[in-house]
Amino acid sequence: MRISVIGCGYLGAVHSAALASMGHEVVGVDIDGERIAALSQGVAPFFEPRLEELLREGLDAGRLRFTTDIADVAGATVHFVCVGTPERKTSRAADLTFVEQAIDELAPHLERGQVVAAKSTVPVGTAERLSPRVEARGATLVWNPEFLREGWAVRDSIEPDRIVVGVAGTPAGEAAADVLREVYRDTVASGTPFLVTDWATAELVKVAANAYLATKISFINAMAEIAEVTGADVTLLADALGHDGRIGRRYLGSGIGFGGGCLPKDIRAFVARAEELGRGESVAFLREVEAVNLRRRERAVQLTVDALGGQVFEKRITVLGAAFKPHSDDIRDSPALEVAVRLKGLGAAVTVTDPAALDNARLRYPQLRYVDDRDEALRGADAVVVVTEWDEYRRRLTPEHAASLTAGRVVVDGRNCLDAAAWRAAGWTYRGMGRP
Ligand code: UDX
Repeated sequence: MRISVIGCGYLGAVHSAALASMGHEVVGVDIDGERIAALSQGVAPFFEPRLEELLREGLDAGRLRFTTDIADVAGATVHFVCVGTPERKTSRAADLTFVEQAIDELAPHLERGQVVAAKSTVPVGTAERLSPRVEARGATLVWNPEFLREGWAVRDSIEPDRIVVGVAGTPAGEAAADVLREVYRDTVASGTPFLVTDWATAELVKVAANAYLATKISFINAMAEIAEVTGADVTLLADALGHDGRIGRRYLGSGIGFGGGCLPKDIRAFVARAEELGRGESVAFLREVEAVNLRRRERAVQLTVDALGGQVFEKRITVLGAAFKPHSDDIRDSPALEVAVRLKGLGAAVTVTDPAALDNARLRYPQLRYVDDRDEALRGADAVVVVTEWDEYRRRLTPEHAASLTAGRVVVDGRNCLDAAAWRAAGWTYRGMGRP
């Protein structure tokens, strides 16, 4: 099928490459010329495992190309809209400028019978509001949310847990759902559930999923706060809870909490939208979810200060991690960097290292000192703070090796990812989050 993808950021770049790998003929469009030039060479503009491989396969096979010219979308059967919906500068609501622009720029090129499938995360009600602009051209709007996780984006695109398609309850809507079923034919054939819903449900699935995940993380971090005053160990608690099949262990990882380009902004936008709809009380708990999340960052700072005897002024602190999670170079709303910046604000001499995110971190927080090499970063440190659970720190850094480099023997495990007993046995003062 001929397909266009409008917006080649995280979502669009991965989606374009994934569609080409399914055998479609894909053109990706973006206004950023540099990005398009890189993608056209098979170079991913961000760190994402397997993406470059997939891009090159598509480019070599002649099924994938990238352009800055929106007119190149002409003739595609389906147009995927994959532009961003950042937080507004003046409120917590989502800024829909890019989605509206994309639809308006796409509209003159639409033909009767074509499908516009929007993947961007939007406030519920957006599809209904934008649909007339698509219908005016004889095309049909569907909402097809994306659930991909950074670091697993390729896999999540090719083998998603489910495919959700929100349509208008009209014959054209039903026909458009069939077109999407055809786009994802092989995925559906392999057993992936394909759910056809109304627009509002499809829009809600995405924000509700992110709200649930954020709530689960904050739940276990709230338990960590209770553990801290009772002597319980939140990691053992999470293991025990996780054995209950109704609860499950995933997203019960305690520590400094969630960040990134989605969870924090999506729950804020959800609260804003619910308030607009007069249902603020229904999701008021998400404000607590956010509050717990932010408290954990402060708690990691406090633990470090305490472990260093009450003050960190001029202490050399090595922060292991900058990305908001491992397998990513994304530092948007990164709890890791917030901890680093706060320690620096208290007068500590902070050195940050990370296997992937330092270029981004340098641009965003030039006040911090960055060292690419992990061991070089550890040399002479009074304390080590682990804030992103990369394997380089979790598995491939032994307490003995770390001790051969640092001056002090204090480690704060902001992700509860280290073997506390092993670090203690090697002479370290170990502090975890919600662990005795
Ligand atoms: C998330 C959703 O998972 C995905 O479905 C959606 O499409 C986009 O948002 P992503 O932002 O890539 O994906 O990150 P995710 O892997 O979900 O992690 C989010 C944050 O939660 C990270 O900062 C991570 O460190 C933190 N986290 C995750 C925890 O603190 N504990 C956990 O147990 C899991």
